[in-house]
Amino acid sequence: MIEMAMAPSNQQTNFSFEHPVTVEFRHRLLFTRGAFRPDNAAFADAMRERGMGATSIAVVIDSGVAEAWPNLGESVAAYCRHHAEALELRMAPLILAGGERVKNGQDYEEVLRLINDAKLCRHSALVAIGGGAVLDAAGYAAAIAHRGIRLVRFPTTTVSQDDSGVGVKNGINAFGKKNYLGTFSVPHAVICDEEFLATLSDRDWSAGFSEAVKVALLKDPDFFNQIEAAAPAIAARNMGAAMPIIRRSAELHLNHIATGGDPFEFTTVRPLDFGHWAAHKLEQLSDFEVSHGEAVGIGIALDVAYCAEIGLLDSDSASRIHRCLAALKLPLSHSLLKSERLLEGIEEFREHLGGELTLSMLSTIGSEHVIHEVDHNAMRRAVANVLNLDAAPKGLSR
Ligand SMILES: NC(=O)c1ccc[n+]([C@@H]2O[C@H](COP(=O)([O-])OP(=O)(O)OC[C@H]3O[C@@H](n4cnc5c(N)ncnc54)[C@H](O)[C@@H]3O)[C@@H](O)[C@H]2O)c1
Ligand SMILES: [Zn+2]
Repeated sequence: MIEMAMAPSNQQTNFSFEHPVTVEFRHRLLFTRGAFRPDNAAFADAMRERGMGATSIAVVIDSGVAEAWPNLGESVAAYCRHHAEALELRMAPLILAGGERVKNGQDYEEVLRLINDAKLCRHSALVAIGGGAVLDAAGYAAAIAHRGIRLVRFPTTTVSQDDSGVGVKNGINAFGKKNYLGTFSVPHAVICDEEFLATLSDRDWSAGFSEAVKVALLKDPDFFNQIEAAAPAIAARNMGAAMPIIRRSAELHLNHIATGGDPFEFTTVRPLDFGHWAAHKLEQLSDFEVSHGEAVGIGIALDVAYCAEIGLLDSDSASRIHRCLAALKLPLSHSLLKSERLLEGIEEFREHLGGELTLSMLSTIGSEHVIHEVDHNAMRRAVANVLNLDAAPKGLSR
């Protein structure tokens, strides 16, 4: 629905016209099991909602997922044949290299080629199955082809199911900076199939829970208590303990986007980016050897130590948060935090957002506190504190 109102000014020589443009989006988020089993109608139903007959689709699959699920391409094809009135698969799936490297090169052009070869138009959809990196690169291509075609995401990692796959952003890296190229675009649907999570490495499994801790600390203290209690079972890969946490994290992220009043981040306040200034810098300094979820865990541990250091957060709460991250088997520090270049991350973060430096910190568990400057000496002391906390301060072992 588009609403317009016109207000010409009365200036003598200049004429200006202002139109508020309101576009309503619909964001569909669904958790399921066995999304491509023919009797699971979720995906077909999400496309049928368009009410325009079968939707033409092309599919991108993360190479890590394709390796772990070798029959996935055939399952998707069989699913489309079964639901032919809702889905028309145009071409064989494109396998895209999994992991951050897919965001560092020209791989998104392969997706553009697929969209072109499959003759997808703006009534079609690109279906992306994979971790956050593949979803970001494929989503970027979908957003720029024909000025934006529909995107259906099937996130397959804990990070992408509880945070990144749920959001309205895509992006690839450029000029050595994370997500320098990208757009805001609302996906047609996000379908999280928990069965995919079974084949993640232990490291990728743990990584996603840092984003759940982040959103709990900012918005929901009871949710933090819940994560804290479930942490040992989550670390042991108990799905019954993990899925309620993943779903609640996704819900809080989506609520923030849908009701927070700033889905396309026009203001400088980015509450969901707690712990992220250091995380982005650490990913970059480690040449992406530290994954996003791990880096966010370290970024949270550091900012929590900083909040305690400047007297904003009590030290018992800080210790609780550190213990919870450790119980989730997330690293609390990395030797690269000692790099003098770490603090450059603060200015880079400001630059990415534009305007005044605005960082979310914590005053209590569940209460965000915004700051506009960072005491570098206190931050260096916080670095020393988290390096002491970690059992393996020399870095991560894989
Ligand atoms: N767009 C956003 O709003 C947003 C938000 C947060 C993070 N991100 C981005 O998400 C990316 C991180 O995503 P991630 O943590 O999902 O990691 P990832 O996409 O890098 O995937 C990690 C590894 O797991 C493999 N993999 C994926 N699913 C698998 C499965 N089911 N079984 C076996 N292996 C599997 C991949 O091939 C890859 O090797 C970063 O680039 C980050 O910047 C984007
Ligand atoms: Zn993040």
